[in-house]
Amino acid sequence: MSEQKRCGIIGLGRYIPTKVLTNKELEKMVDTTDEWIVTRTGIKERRIARSDEATSDMAAEAARAALKDANLTANDIDLIIVATITPDMFFPATACLVQDKLGCRTVPAFDISVACSGFIYGIAIADQFIRSGTYKHALVIAAEKLSSVTDWSDRSTCVLFGDGAGAAVLGPVKDGGILSVSLGANGKQGDLIKLPAGGSRIPPTVKSIEDKLHFIKMNGSELFKHAVRIMADAALGATQQLGLKADDIKLVIPHQANIRILKAVAKRMGLTEDKIYLNIEKYGNMSAASSAVALVEAVQEGRIKKGDKLLLDAFGGGLTWGAMVIEWSR
Ligand code: UT7
Repeated sequence: MSEQKRCGIIGLGRYIPTKVLTNKELEKMVDTTDEWIVTRTGIKERRIARSDEATSDMAAEAARAALKDANLTANDIDLIIVATITPDMFFPATACLVQDKLGCRTVPAFDISVACSGFIYGIAIADQFIRSGTYKHALVIAAEKLSSVTDWSDRSTCVLFGDGAGAAVLGPVKDGGILSVSLGANGKQGDLIKLPAGGSRIPPTVKSIEDKLHFIKMNGSELFKHAVRIMADAALGATQQLGLKADDIKLVIPHQANIRILKAVAKRMGLTEDKIYLNIEKYGNMSAASSAVALVEAVQEGRIKKGDKLLLDAFGGGLTWGAMVIEWSR
């Protein structure tokens, strides 16, 4: 009987726009303070993409870095998945645009729209194709230009979001790799965070633009309550499948929406705060790209070594959530 194939992350890369937008600068744009933003969210600054820089541009840069890290070329890629809620356009899919930019073969390429959980959903999908032997190497990219859908006059949202991209090359590994996956969604609570217009329900009109319906709308305090419980439950779902205790996890790489959410999740999981990787102060909430960029930076900083078990954990619009245990195999 042939042995079950294992799939792991064999290359990582990120792209962060150069323009920094600080809390002090936001103080001049809306009625807010650096003190409010830091104490309520943990964010000190975020990155903003150039006006001529779209999601696919950032995604392609992150993917190039991941391919280099994996010691592979675009020609080696058999599948491309882009997780984004800020695609360049409705269609073609951003993944198709990235395929072209990278010079990949005519391999399958598609986007997934699951907001902040997108990187984990993307890895979970690619994992199935690789373990089944259908494909050998997949690119999973999480990229967002949230600045393009942010209402810069709304202090309750504009202080939170930023732009960026992270990418992973997935492929077969001998040991470790993706050990467990726990995904979920609850469409009943979809109204808590959404971008109402531009789709078939409310096509773009002068009125929809005047009503600012093309920007992210969010019920932050309500989401906050769900985030803590759902992220902790998703983490438990992924660890319990393997009979692991929280202590067996070397590092949790969470979606970076709010430092207070992450501290509460740590407490609920019985983990010390140093086991939760944080980079929210530099980037804010980059939706799907947050956990991807956090993973890239945690590995680059030497926080994860071969054989370590890490937990990816995310929650976001949809609502959607996902957690995944990975044994680092590089
Ligand atoms: O990415 C995944 C999905 N997103 C999330 O999971 C986000 C979850 N939610 C949050 O992170 C938090 O709810 C926020 C950071 C968005 C807001 O923090 P909060 O502690 O829940 O504040 P709040 O919305 O309850 O507002 C408290 C006060 C309000 O004033 P009043 O009514 O008490 O006078 C707001 O108007 O803070 C006010 N406020 C601000 N004040 C200064 C809201 N935004 C700001 C601001 N600066 N930027």
